[in-house]
Amino acid sequence: MTTPKIVVTGRIPEPGIDLMKEVGEVWAWTHDDPIPHDIRNEQLASADAVVTILTDTVDEAFLDAAPNLKIVANVAVGYNNINVPACHARGVTVTNTPGVLTDATADLAMGLILMATRRLGEGERLIRSGAPWKWGMFMMLGTGLQGRQLGIVGMGGIGQALAQRARAFGMSIVYHNRSAVSADIEDALSARRCDLEELLATSDVVSLNCPYSQETHHLIDAQALSTMRDDAVLINTARGPIVDESALVDALVSGGISAAALDVFEHEPEVHPGLLDLDNVVLVPHLGSATIETRTAMATLAAQNVVGYFDGSGPVTPVT
Ligand code: GLV
Repeated sequence: MTTPKIVVTGRIPEPGIDLMKEVGEVWAWTHDDPIPHDIRNEQLASADAVVTILTDTVDEAFLDAAPNLKIVANVAVGYNNINVPACHARGVTVTNTPGVLTDATADLAMGLILMATRRLGEGERLIRSGAPWKWGMFMMLGTGLQGRQLGIVGMGGIGQALAQRARAFGMSIVYHNRSAVSADIEDALSARRCDLEELLATSDVVSLNCPYSQETHHLIDAQALSTMRDDAVLINTARGPIVDESALVDALVSGGISAAALDVFEHEPEVHPGLLDLDNVVLVPHLGSATIETRTAMATLAAQNVVGYFDGSGPVTPVT
């Protein structure tokens, strides 16, 4: 085979680019702004491989523009931005980057739990507002985590890593997952599997750590929110459309739940305007995997997938 052409559609850390240069000719978009469609399509026309970021949509039109494409290597663990069946129907391999962002994302979820339960965003906003304040016995009281129940929806690697952190804060763990994790893991995390109804009705903190798919679209809707405790906190570091954002605004305004902390948004990067004025919600801009080490590891794993495809050893983390 002639030297494969590898197109990188978003700016990624250099070590990933350098690695791929060992097996092919790399063309990379090097700006933080999104690649314009005409430039992307011009490059896709001769691409054998494409390295995508989660803001790329790999649909039929994308694939039509890339007639020689053999592999799509997504630099993300989530791959809801890629039409996987359409890729597979055309014989195109899809890979993602599981594992390497587990700790960073679990750290962020734990940080959001603390921010929401201890009202840290609200406190920060108060000081920055310049409004006068002084220490008060009853000022901005939050809730502690010790002895509280964390309900984890989606007990994959990130859910388990979050459980480990929450245990260190004295929380008990229930989880909802299609299949049970091994008894060893359940024992190590003192975690008990239960159905979603029980998890929502009994947890002090509910954390979403499941993939986004048709089955999880609006998993947390008005009905689900109405079954949560009115002192409960919702955390979403998974994907925005798992939550019906309008219903969440209603629940936060009416006191149906007490607080939320969101790293991801239903119509990202737009944020429901109803959330912006609420003090009982923490909003951060999709930072789950945003550490230098993690983003470098993600780019490197995506590159290893491309290298593995072309050197014959096979991609490391294919999506099946
Ligand atoms: C981040 O959201 C990812 O899926 O990697």
